[in-house]
Amino acid sequence: MSASARTLRVAVIGAGMAGQAHAFGFRNASMSDALAGTRVELARIVDAHLPAAEAAASRYGFTSFGDDVQSVIDDPSIDIVSVALPNGQHREVLLPLIASGKHIFTEKPLGVSLREAAEIADFAARFPAVHGVGFSYRHIPALAALAREVQSGTIGEPYHFEVVYYASHAADPTVPYTWRFDVDRSGGGALIDLGIHCIDTVRFVVGEIDEVVSGVMTTVIDRRNDRGTAEEVTNDDVTAAVLRSGRAVGTFITSRVARGEPNRLTIAVYGAKGSGGFSTDRYDEFWLYQATDPEPAVDGPRRVVAGPAHPYYADVSSFRSRGVGTGYGEAFVAEMQDFLRAIVEDRQLEADFSAAVASMRVADEIIEKAGARRPRRDDRSVDADADAA
Ligand SMILES: NC(=O)c1ccc[n+]([C@@H]2O[C@H](COP(=O)([O-])OP(=O)(O)OC[C@H]3O[C@@H](n4cnc5c(N)ncnc54)[C@H](O)[C@@H]3O)[C@@H](O)[C@H]2O)c1
Repeated sequence: MSASARTLRVAVIGAGMAGQAHAFGFRNASMSDALAGTRVELARIVDAHLPAAEAAASRYGFTSFGDDVQSVIDDPSIDIVSVALPNGQHREVLLPLIASGKHIFTEKPLGVSLREAAEIADFAARFPAVHGVGFSYRHIPALAALAREVQSGTIGEPYHFEVVYYASHAADPTVPYTWRFDVDRSGGGALIDLGIHCIDTVRFVVGEIDEVVSGVMTTVIDRRNDRGTAEEVTNDDVTAAVLRSGRAVGTFITSRVARGEPNRLTIAVYGAKGSGGFSTDRYDEFWLYQATDPEPAVDGPRRVVAGPAHPYYADVSSFRSRGVGTGYGEAFVAEMQDFLRAIVEDRQLEADFSAAVASMRVADEIIEKAGARRPRRDDRSVDADADAA
């Protein structure tokens, strides 16, 4: 069958926040010209909590839903499986899925540790299918455009950079305990949940991270309520590190307790000939400064609004013109289009399992530099019970 006449049947495992973003991405993937004629069918969505699977099936138009992963493995008509499960379940679910020979897309992190990520990647390398990982930020058109400028030398050799990912979903001490606060089921807190996107973003925009110079991890809310029991939080609320990429030095900080910051990733890079940056505060643009004969009266960085001249934009924006906006939803469309194109063109992705291992290696070095897998506590920590009192 020719590539242009192909139907690809997709199953999504996990109907939570990320699983629904995957469904959104697959549902809109046909907007890519390069996928013209490739039919993407939302065949099945699975969640251990059946009502969640049913609701997502109805919302996104899946043909069927269920509560067991085996039903997907056993269905030879399913070509693609997209996994969006709690981190601690990735390994257990991924290994048999990979062994089925289907194309696999999985959320980050690849496993709960570098060892697990490497094991999964090594196993996947034995199968010819396409294996992608959910580094969604690198698919935001404006961020991808910044990366293209930095990589093509527009700002010269990078001298230094800063990257942050701030969120506030855990800032309130009464936020209940979930798998996200358990180091065994998550692999880490802010670092592994949010900071892993920063690590990938630095690798994407600036270059390989050659060294973790130092790292600090802290937990500021020690206990959280789990249906009446005060459970210990065993991973980081805040992590900071100093990194080196080539000759460039960078600072990195991530927090899930950043009051007033619902969800923000920002990167800025300063080089020999200019500088540039991107922030999810303004998804649809990046800033660029080129120190070429600056006229002092108007010298300064300029705002570049994303458009069809930039990566992904024409394939994900409902208007193929500048200024109408792209956001995080479009990043998931672009991510799934990239994955589907790799399948159609029979090649591997840039954001493949080896990219996931590379990011986990950096995270692992930060944990090591911070001195402990479990973060340090001190007596300034806020306790959920004390705060509620
Ligand atoms: N790329 C991103 O921007 C992004 C954003 C959010 C989450 N994530 C990643 O996505 C993954 C899932 O996170 P989430 O926020 O969607 O979590 P979530 O808790 O919202 O959803 C997880 C879902 O998996 C289901 N589930 C748990 N175990 C299962 C099993 N064995 N079989 C079938 N279903 C099962 C749960 O019932 C739940 O509905 C995590 O790895 C997280 O790191 C990525």
